[in-house]
Amino acid sequence: MMRTASRFLVATAVTALVPAIVSAQSWSDQPVHPEDHEAAAAVSYEDGGMYYNEDDILTYNVGEDGTVDWLTFSGFRRYHSECHVCHGPDGEGSTYAPKIKNSAVHMDYYDFYDVVVNGRKNGNSVMPHFGDNPNVMCYLNDIYVYLKARGMDAIPRGRPGKKEAKSDMIQEMENACMG
Ligand code: HEC
Repeated sequence: MMRTASRFLVATAVTALVPAIVSAQSWSDQPVHPEDHEAAAAVSYEDGGMYYNEDDILTYNVGEDGTVDWLTFSGFRRYHSECHVCHGPDGEGSTYAPKIKNSAVHMDYYDFYDVVVNGRKNGNSVMPHFGDNPNVMCYLNDIYVYLKARGMDAIPRGRPGKKEAKSDMIQEMENACMG
């Protein structure tokens, strides 16, 4: 009896500690098991060439022949012009900046936005703030959707081959954002 009880207590203590340890790390350090995130990534509806999950959060769409939605394709290009110097090609991470393809799966959409808009500092590890940079801000949805597709292994590394056309709505939003 005593043994069982103490073993139970130890297990409880360890479980209670795990969230504390995990939260001290970057989201990117946590491996992605795509099957755990299928529901959050699944397309619930499409609007103006953009795809949303059941919580109205943007997600990617990959057709049976590998055709990607416009945001995923555009995000690939924007990521590789603004983020990859630190975060490595294809969102894979580098020795000094995290593997943000994982972060895009684990982090809440709004937390992801928050880090990019405001930046983050952890000792010598600095994520710059991009809130005043239209080349990032006007394409942050694209970058987010692209990284989520990468984190979920829905698309391979490298430039997506086939893509959907850019919708009028996406073009209008881009024009309005870029001014
Ligand atoms: C100058 C290098 C640099 C550039 C450019 C950069 N980042 Fe970062 N980023 C970092 C570093 C370093 C961290 C880790 C900060 C920390 O330790 O808190 C980070 C952290 C992040 C995180 C949080 C990851 C997590 O798991 O908590 C996100 C999200 C992020 N970056 C997105 C982006 C995006 C999107 C871009 C391109 C628009 C970008 N970064 C460009 C250096 C950079």
